Amino acid sequence: MPPTSSYETLLSPGRIGSLEIRNRIVVTAMGANFSEDDGQWGDRVLAYHEEQARGGVGLIISGACGVMYPVGQVQRWQLAISDDIFIEGIARAAEAVHRHGAKLAVQLHQGGLNAVDDTVAGRPQWCPSVPKWEHGDFLEGHLPHELEIMMKSGVPSFKVLEKEDIDELVRAFAAGAGRAKAAGVDAVEVHGGHGYVPSSFLSPKTNQRTDEYGGSVENRSRLLLEIVRAVRAEVGPDYPIIVKIDSREVGKVGGIEIEHAKVTARLLEEAGADAITVSAYHEMSQGKLHSESNIPHIPNTNLPAAEAIKREVSVPIIASGRVEPEHADGEIRAGRFDFLAMGRKLLADPHLPRKLAEGRRAEVRPCVYCYTCVSAIYTRESTRCAVNPECGLEYTRVRAPRAQAKKRVAVVGGGPGGMEAARRLALDGHQVTLIEKSDRLGGTLRFASLAYPANEPLLDWLSAQVEAAGVDVRLGTRATADVLKGLAPDDVVVATGALRSLPDIPGAQHAHVLSGDDMRDLMLGANSPALQQKTSLVTRLATRVGAATGLTANLGFVRSATRSWMPFGKDIAIVGGELVGLELAEFLAERGRNVTVIDDVPRFGSGITLVRRLRLLAELREHGLGLHPSAKDIRIEPGRVSFTDADGEAHAVAADQVIVAKGTTGDSTQAEAFRSAGLRVHEIGDGTGIGYIEGAMRDAMEAVDSINAGV
Ligand SMILES: Cc1cc2nc3c(=O)[nH]c(=O)nc-3n(C[C@H](O)[C@H](O)[C@H](O)COP(=O)(O)O)c2cc1C
Repeated sequence: MPPTSSYETLLSPGRIGSLEIRNRIVVTAMGANFSEDDGQWGDRVLAYHEEQARGGVGLIISGACGVMYPVGQVQRWQLAISDDIFIEGIARAAEAVHRHGAKLAVQLHQGGLNAVDDTVAGRPQWCPSVPKWEHGDFLEGHLPHELEIMMKSGVPSFKVLEKEDIDELVRAFAAGAGRAKAAGVDAVEVHGGHGYVPSSFLSPKTNQRTDEYGGSVENRSRLLLEIVRAVRAEVGPDYPIIVKIDSREVGKVGGIEIEHAKVTARLLEEAGADAITVSAYHEMSQGKLHSESNIPHIPNTNLPAAEAIKREVSVPIIASGRVEPEHADGEIRAGRFDFLAMGRKLLADPHLPRKLAEGRRAEVRPCVYCYTCVSAIYTRESTRCAVNPECGLEYTRVRAPRAQAKKRVAVVGGGPGGMEAARRLALDGHQVTLIEKSDRLGGTLRFASLAYPANEPLLDWLSAQVEAAGVDVRLGTRATADVLKGLAPDDVVVATGALRSLPDIPGAQHAHVLSGDDMRDLMLGANSPALQQKTSLVTRLATRVGAATGLTANLGFVRSATRSWMPFGKDIAIVGGELVGLELAEFLAERGRNVTVIDDVPRFGSGITLVRRLRLLAELREHGLGLHPSAKDIRIEPGRVSFTDADGEAHAVAADQVIVAKGTTGDSTQAEAFRSAGLRVHEIGDGTGIGYIEGAMRDAMEAVDSINAGV
């Protein structure tokens, strides 16, 4: 259960300069690639922001919006404000946001050393001085198709800014602010962080200038201060100006530090900033750091810096970075910051603020910190949210009418896809029966939650929502065509998941070899015949006791109990370097096992989003795991696994147990059988191909759309 709080402070009105804001919740700037191909603010971005406004947020800050478009764009589908032709689209978005009582700010931006689109188009990147690149593991964590996208961008060239370029840049920011005001937008946020032009001047690492824009922190702040003064001159004394800065650059030797940021913040206040958004940046060449600073994996990691900067200035501080609303409520009350900017949580559920206000905290669809949203940006796609498939599609779906005819629908399979379909169908007024063969809901999400705890709130949410929506849940029931026909359903949704067969690896039949399914059953207390043959009496007893007492249903208990006891030896080999294999590897390594991961694929981590994969691979290396991609002739023998590496060298690693986490395929057998029996079948989730949580949730939405539309 989520913690309780009145959210009184978080939901209380706030003020930035002259701007009254209905509460302290801000949509942080997220460049979601929802623009048209030409920087325009079209229907897609309008509907996306309108949904956030409808959801009750106080202030929405747009994604990075180019003041020199197309120069300085990071992404092709990024928004722009570099010409009067953009005013109309922005004005329409502002009106839409205002209709629901929220305010809109535009984030003013020039991408500089991160303007990948400049490189793609053969333009130089704007910068203070030619940067020196560090060598790191960033590219090593990419899968081949992602590398290809990266490489296609080309090699960057640089434009070291002369005084007249700086003046042009300053004018462009000011003109952008003027257009925002003309469009009826309520405020601007000058992007002074994340490695973009003003931040590259602020950073002693990337700014090697010897003129008045380089050297001391005052000099390095000069460009940003000139921008803020020019914006102030353009928009007049009462128009709110927010400035976003980095409190530090994580892992960047010689980069921005908190003491620099404090000075910059003081100077910004003097220059006329009405609020400061405190973020952070990182060394780009290190894969793990991409989830360490501005889009952090660790909760609240940026809050100490926000508090430190708050002590330096009297203008409001906007903080962010995986902060729960309950925590923010207390922090704001304690005077540590003033507004909470949220990103990922509001992609997952833009109605979070309204639900808090209505006392419906438990109904907030949780973010699972899977990094689908931002990884999509890295590969030049539009942002998607794994748990909220409507995100970015609001302009086509959210207002779609619900079905007129109420139907009887059977959903087979209680994993994430089945639960989501059942929940949606019941909310749309259909009569829904959810059939699950095991004695618990959750399916693969249960095991996924054990290995990656951030998934667990989704499991809890789906289970609770299925119940609250009035779905008739039948556990421990095998769905046959006859069982289904007995329910006389108009439609059947089949969400029975993937088939996990043991691949044809020599030695896979040995008793010390467990499949992914065996492993799941073992940890979660299911007593399968395969396990009975492979495990000792003690293990079987423990599993049975766990299941009978309901202990294995409690994932927190399983997580902590397995730290002291697991029916495994010291050395474990995992054959399979995809999502399940790698998460298991981390789970076991954290429990003191020597783990080796072996696979014939050239790169590990498919099925895991890029940014999360970069972290997971780094963590596995930190645990000292042996990672062996491109392995050939893998053979399982008693006590060891042998294989040949990419250079033809033979290896053998010790293995008390071998877990084969490979060989998962889509499986339509059941769906076909139901079809042949004359039932109207909609197949979703991993049964149709492996799509993990994102695929399951999206398929569920689409199947329910089809049922509503009668197709
Ligand atoms: C998909 C995505 C796009 C982002 N784009 C921007 C951006 O355009 N400008 C910016 O200042 N920060 C951007 N960020 C960083 C966020 O503003 C914010 O710092 C981060 O998401 C932390 O908040 P959260 O933990 O609540 O998600 C982006 C984050 C995400 C997830």
